[in-house]
Amino acid sequence: MSKAVAGAKRLGRIPPYLFAEIDRKVQEKKRAGVDVISLGIGDPDLPTPGRIVSVLQEVAADPSNHRYPSYFGLTELRESIARWYSERSGVELDPSTEILPTLGSKDGISHVPLALVDPGDVVLAPDPGYTVYTTGAIMAGADPYVMPLTEANHWLPDLDAIPDEVARRARLMWLNYPNNPTAATADRHFLVHAVEFCRRHDIVLCHDAPYSEIAFDGYRPLTLFEIPGAKEIGLEFHSLSKTYNMTGWRIGWVCGRADLVGLIGQLKTNIDSGIFQAVQWAAIEALNGGEEETHAANTVYLRRHRLVAETLNKLGWNIKPPRATFYVWAPVPPGYDSIGFAGHVLDKVGVNITPGVGFGPHGEGYFRLSVTAPDARLQEAMTRMETLKL
Ligand SMILES: Cc1ncc(COP(=O)(O)O)c(C=O)c1O
Repeated sequence: MSKAVAGAKRLGRIPPYLFAEIDRKVQEKKRAGVDVISLGIGDPDLPTPGRIVSVLQEVAADPSNHRYPSYFGLTELRESIARWYSERSGVELDPSTEILPTLGSKDGISHVPLALVDPGDVVLAPDPGYTVYTTGAIMAGADPYVMPLTEANHWLPDLDAIPDEVARRARLMWLNYPNNPTAATADRHFLVHAVEFCRRHDIVLCHDAPYSEIAFDGYRPLTLFEIPGAKEIGLEFHSLSKTYNMTGWRIGWVCGRADLVGLIGQLKTNIDSGIFQAVQWAAIEALNGGEEETHAANTVYLRRHRLVAETLNKLGWNIKPPRATFYVWAPVPPGYDSIGFAGHVLDKVGVNITPGVGFGPHGEGYFRLSVTAPDARLQEAMTRMETLKL
C-alpha cells in the first residue's frame, strides 16, 4: 500500500471502537426490517431539562456567543463548577487553576496521556473498562497495563498485585466509580488505598466520575477529593452528559491538582478552540439549578433496573439492581461467549446488548445492558427476552 494512504501505525494498534462496530450491525438489522431495541449504549433517553434548553435557545441568539470562546472556559462556568463541587462534596476547588471545562469528559480522558505521559511510560487501566483509557494511552505512545476487575474482588482492581517494576514505570492510573461497565461502586477504604498507592509510587490518579450522580436509594458515591491527600496526585473527570441528559451537548470538566490541570489546558489550546459559549451558559444553568431532575431520572432508572432484574431472574439469573449507574452487568448463560450471546439476543429477539469482551478481555463471560430506553421499549425488550431459548 502507498505510504500516503497507509494510515498512522498508532491507529493500527487501536481496535475498532466497539460501539461503532455494534452500530454497524444494528443498522444492518434495521435495513432488513427488524425493529431493534437498543440497550447497547449508555445514552439517556430522557430529555435535557427544559430550563437548560431554554437558556441555550436564548443565548444562542446573542452574537457575543458566536465568536471563539476562551480556551479555558467562562469564568462563570468554572465558578459554577467550583460551587457545585463544594456543595456536592464539601471540597473547595480554585476555579481559576483547578478546573478546566472540556468537550465532554471523553475529550479530557482521551487527551490527558498526551499532556502527562511520554512514549514508553505505563498507563494503568481497568479491564473491563471504558476503552478510551487504553486507546488514549496508545495514541500517546504509552503502554497500557491492565488491572483486571473481577467479581471475586467486587470489580475493584487489586492494586497490590501490580508488580513493583510496573508501578515504577507507571505515570498514570485510571479508576472509574461508579463503574462502567460493571455498575460497581468503590468504598472509602478502597479509594484511600488507591490514593496512598499512587502517592507512594508517584503516579497521577485519574478518577473518571461521569456517573457520580446516577445513584439510588440514598447512596451518594464518593468523589475523589473527599479522600485526604488526593489532590496532591489526583485529577477527576466529570460530565454533564449523564447527570443532566446532555450527551449531545459535549460538555464536562477535569479538576484537581493545578499544575496537572494547567498542562491539560496547554495541550488543549493546540487541539480545540474551546466550547461553544452558549453551551457553557446552558451548563451554568444546569449546575446552578439543583438536583431535582437528576433525582427524578434516578427514580426512573431504579424502576427500570427492578424490571430488568425481575425479568432476568425469571430466566435463571440472580441479579440485584445496582447502587449506581444505569448499567446492568451480568454473566452470559453457559455455552455462550459474550459476542455469541449478544449476537443470539440480537438475532432472535432484536434486542441489542453489549458483549462484555468489548470492554477488554476480562469482560469475557459477561454482557452489559443499559436501562436508558423509554419505559415502553424496555418493557417490550424484557417481554421479548422472556421468550429466549437459552
Ligand atoms: C466511564 C465513562 N467515562 C466517560 C464517558 C464519556 O462521557 P462524555 O464524553 O459524554 O462526558 C463515558 C460515556 O459513556 C463513560 O461511560
